[in-house]
Amino acid sequence: MYGVCYRESLTTNDEWVHLKEVVRKISFLRSIRKMYQFFVDIPIQKGTILHERYEVLTVIGSGSYGIVYLCKDLKSQEKRVVKQLRPSKHRHRKEVELFESEIALLHTLQHKQMPKLFETFSTDGYFFYVMSFIDGDNLEDLIFHSKKTFNEQESLLILQQLLELVDYLHTKNIYHQDLRIPNILLKNNELFLIDFGLSQQKILSAPSQLSSGSLQHNLENTQEMKLQDYYDLGEILLYLFYTTYPSKNKKALPWTEELSLKWETVHLLKRLLQIEEPYSSVHEISIDLHAALKANENEH
Ligand SMILES: Nc1ncnc2c1ncn2[C@@H]1O[C@H](COP(=O)(O)OP(=O)(O)O)[C@@H](O)[C@H]1O
Ligand SMILES: [Mg+2]
Repeated sequence: MYGVCYRESLTTNDEWVHLKEVVRKISFLRSIRKMYQFFVDIPIQKGTILHERYEVLTVIGSGSYGIVYLCKDLKSQEKRVVKQLRPSKHRHRKEVELFESEIALLHTLQHKQMPKLFETFSTDGYFFYVMSFIDGDNLEDLIFHSKKTFNEQESLLILQQLLELVDYLHTKNIYHQDLRIPNILLKNNELFLIDFGLSQQKILSAPSQLSSGSLQHNLENTQEMKLQDYYDLGEILLYLFYTTYPSKNKKALPWTEELSLKWETVHLLKRLLQIEEPYSSVHEISIDLHAALKANENEH
C-alpha cells in the first residue's frame, strides 16, 4: 500500500519536473521570438510615401499580426488607414494566407459601420492593404486609458449595436471569431467593427456535392463558430459591466456574486456564456436583450 503511494508520488514528481522543463523551453522560445519580432517588425517612418500615394502620418495600432498606419492619401487628400502584415509573419505561409483572407473578406463587406477596402499593394516584399479611417477610439483604450465607464443600460445598448453587426455578418455566413474590445471602435456613440484577420466565411456547398460525413462536419464547424461569436459577445458585455464595479473587494468572487444586475441581464449573460442553454440565433438573443433593456428602463 505504502509502496504504491510512494511510486505514485514519484511519478507525479517526475511529471512535474518534466512539465517545468517544457514550460522553461516554451518561455525561452517565446522570448527569442519576441526579440526577433522587435528587430524585424520596425514600423515604417513618419513621412514615408507608400505606393507613391500614401504618406505615413503615424502608427495607430499594432496588434499581434498587423502594424496599422494612419496615412494621408496624396491623391484624394483624405485620411486612410494602411495595414501592413508584420514582416516577422512573412515566413509563415499560414499567416500570409490569413492576411489574404482578411482582404478577401473585407472586399465582400458593405456596411457603414465596418471599414471599406480601397486597394492592396506590396512594396519591397511587404504586404499592405488600404481601408477607410474610422475616426474613433477602440473600446480597450476608452476603458483602460480614458477610464470610460458603462452602466448596465449603456452596456446593453452597446451589445444591441454589436448584435446588429454580428447579424449582418452571420447572414453572409461570415463568422468574426475575434470579437474583443480592441476590435470595436466607438465614434460619437456609434459602433464600428474592425479586424477580420481571424474571420471565416463558410460557403455552404450544395448537399448533393458533399458526403453526409463532410456535410455533418461542415454544419458542426459553422455551429461552433457561431457559438464562439455569441460567447465573445458575452465576454464583452461582462467587460463593460465591470467598468462600473468598484474593485474594493480583493477576494475575487464570480461575476454572478460581484455584480448586481437585473435578473433578465443575468439570464442573457448566462446563455451567451453558455452557462445556461446556448442561444441558437441572433433573433433569440435580441428577444432576451430587449427584455433586459426593458427591465432597466422600468427602473429609471
Ligand atoms: N480602419 C481603422 N480606422 C481606425 N483605426 C483602426 C482601423 N483599423 C485598425 N485601427 C486601429 O488599429 C488597431 C489594430 O488594428 P487591427 O486591425 O485590430 O490589427 P491586428 O489584427 O494586428 O489586431 C485597432 O485596435 C484600432 O485601434
Ligand atoms: Mg485587432
